[in-house]
Amino acid sequence: MDGLGRTTGAALRHDSALKHTTGEARYADDIPEAPGTLHAALVLATIAHGRVTALHTEAARAMPGVVAVLGPRDIPGANDIAPVAKNEPLFADPVIEFHGMPLAMVLAETRDAALRAAAAVTADVTPLEPVLSIERALELGQNVIPPQVIRRGEAEAAIAAAPHRLAAEFRAGGQEHFYLEGQVALATPGEDGEMQVVSSTQHPSEVQHLVARVLGCDFNRVTVTCRRMGGGFGGKESNASWVAAAAAIGARVTGRPVKLRLARRADMIATGKRHPFLYRWSAGFDDTGRILGLKALLAADGGWSTDLSGGVVFRAVTHALGPCDVPAVELTAQAVRTNSVSHTAFRGFGGPQGALLIEDVVHRVAAALGTTPEAVRARNFAGVGGNSDEVPYGQKLEGDLIARVWAEAKQGAEWDRRRAAIAAFNASHPTLRRGLGSMVLAFGISFGIQHLNQAGALVHVYSDGSIRLNHGGTEMGQGLFIKIAQVVCDVFGVDLGRVAITATSTAEVPNTAPTAASTGSDLNGWAAHHAARTIRDRMADVAARRWGIAPEAVVFADNKAWAERIGANRAFDFGELAKLCFLERVSLSATGFYKTPDIHWDAKAMRGHPFFYFSYGAAIAEVIVDTLTGEHRCLRADLVQDCGRSLNPAVDRGQVEGAFVQGLGWLTCEELWWDRDGRLRTIGPSTYKIPGSRDVPVMNLRLLEGAPARVETIFRSKAVGEPPLLLATCVWNALKDAIGTPALDLPATPERVLMALRAKG
Ligand code: MTE
Ligand code: HPA
Ligand code: MOS
Repeated sequence: MDGLGRTTGAALRHDSALKHTTGEARYADDIPEAPGTLHAALVLATIAHGRVTALHTEAARAMPGVVAVLGPRDIPGANDIAPVAKNEPLFADPVIEFHGMPLAMVLAETRDAALRAAAAVTADVTPLEPVLSIERALELGQNVIPPQVIRRGEAEAAIAAAPHRLAAEFRAGGQEHFYLEGQVALATPGEDGEMQVVSSTQHPSEVQHLVARVLGCDFNRVTVTCRRMGGGFGGKESNASWVAAAAAIGARVTGRPVKLRLARRADMIATGKRHPFLYRWSAGFDDTGRILGLKALLAADGGWSTDLSGGVVFRAVTHALGPCDVPAVELTAQAVRTNSVSHTAFRGFGGPQGALLIEDVVHRVAAALGTTPEAVRARNFAGVGGNSDEVPYGQKLEGDLIARVWAEAKQGAEWDRRRAAIAAFNASHPTLRRGLGSMVLAFGISFGIQHLNQAGALVHVYSDGSIRLNHGGTEMGQGLFIKIAQVVCDVFGVDLGRVAITATSTAEVPNTAPTAASTGSDLNGWAAHHAARTIRDRMADVAARRWGIAPEAVVFADNKAWAERIGANRAFDFGELAKLCFLERVSLSATGFYKTPDIHWDAKAMRGHPFFYFSYGAAIAEVIVDTLTGEHRCLRADLVQDCGRSLNPAVDRGQVEGAFVQGLGWLTCEELWWDRDGRLRTIGPSTYKIPGSRDVPVMNLRLLEGAPARVETIFRSKAVGEPPLLLATCVWNALKDAIGTPALDLPATPERVLMALRAKG
């Protein structure tokens, strides 16, 4: 009866697509404000490191409409917003750890009044020496988490014994999430110490926990809901929690609803970003391009606090070889502590940064040998041509899929023909240079932290046969809700119109993981499937008794329950059967639960099987560069992405295209710029350039066909949210090809492209 597959696999549009475009979709800030709602604004530090000796709030308090100014002393519970570690204060007390750290919060009758008053709060600060670069933090040996090292064989000996050796250093910048909807939360106090929080969050359970922590109350007093986010991209995995915690403090202290919606500028200053990385490596290789040994340091700028850096570094170090096999490695990844905003989750969660390492190695080795990076990469593909398929930390990659995505991308892009055309163009033009670049990805799916790989769902069938679906996953635009609704439709054999999609709520499904690590549909899909199955089995019992047949012989399809086969002359409408269940006093409500099987990790040995499976993809980009100005453009991208048996190809295609463009932005135009005082100067769209519609290349995308997941994922689908961001690495590689040097730091802005051209001579 399972897998009738009429709804899953259909290219249905996002359930809110029309509402998104008409503006009817309701975001947190669109909810009508209750009378008496106060607005909050944050007071941010104007120095990167220092000690607050006095906070002057009198002028702000005297301003019209101002109700309160709250600092660290006004927090009813703990001044700690650490999601994983401990002692990460919401308000500096007394040490300011970064330029933009919150010092206090103003509450006022209007948002304008709050913002004006926040600007009137001043602080006396004794400056301390700030640490503002990864290099300086490395010198001082200060980390937010201990280094993680993956070893296999003797890397140094293998490098020393290899016919050729190379060493290099390069860097990659961070990235601002630039979600369309900024961070926002609305906290409403209730009776008996209750707090109702509407939060734009990927992690309602963590919002609940941190709100409880700052209020000093039990989790059961706090209810958190989220219908949708206007984008999260990892930026609302941990950072949403402290925004909500601040709103809740205001609501508790004043007894009134409090909304905190960060202005874009404050959002860009005070919330974490993708970790910038510094890489240092040495490698040994032979004449064929086979990499025999690799020793590398991947140093992330963790910023001032731990936040999620442990997980980010873990993903970086486990993805540092990409789809390649290197027999002897010593890979060290760490997050250094600096006086910068605390860097956080961002689509790929360290995976994209990890994968840059092997790409840099491959490209420099190819240049040294006078061959192509494509040849070197393919020479080292895991599980291909006699190379091991086992990654250095113990689990296996699927060499056939790696070879297949690459072959399909190359064929779809007409690689050989265009290589020749580009050579001809370059020979004929004095200053413009075209280039081709490629990328092959292998991305591990599951949270690196085992306990997060769980999900719950709550399904009700009402006595008219309508269905209400709730689960722990959150909707941020990625199409999770429709995918899970499709799963439920398939279980019940009903149309999508029967299923009401509802807001995520800690009161309906408790103790959840964040919607992150691309696992939303894998985890919640199974949880919802289990809940729906439980109800369907009860309904089948009722129908079977009526008909005197075995419950297994009841078939749910076409909005009906059929006796033995579709089209049989005995059948109940789904609603009719639901009514019958109610009359027979059979429960039509069930929870479902799922935990990912077969995953384990030994953090001491740095070995195990942390990922349920891998997702694969390949891409080829063509770029054109003006060698006089460094300006460049990506003209065409050919992408192949493995989504297993896609639950919804329309949604998945959108995810691949969006991820590619977001990756392209990270690698080519989005530059975070801190001045010498550690003050972020790129704090709006005028100074921080995200890709515009004209930066999007012609994209030829195919989802890998006939490749159902080889492990038991929901309907054999595969996660898609993050992996395709790595595909954009082909644009970096194409730029290197165009300018004729593999040494190109990121983001490859026109300025850096020019510098690389100059350095090359
Ligand atoms: N797509 C949209 N439109 N908006 C988002 O915020 N976040 C990405 C990805 N795709 C995001 C998105 C990130 S960082 C993750 S981890 C996944 O979606 C999370 O959702 P999933 O697990 O359901 O794929
Ligand atoms: N991705 C996103 N968030 C996480 C992860 C991950 O792999 N691990 C822990 N939190
Ligand atoms: Mo995505 S960075 O795992 O929220």
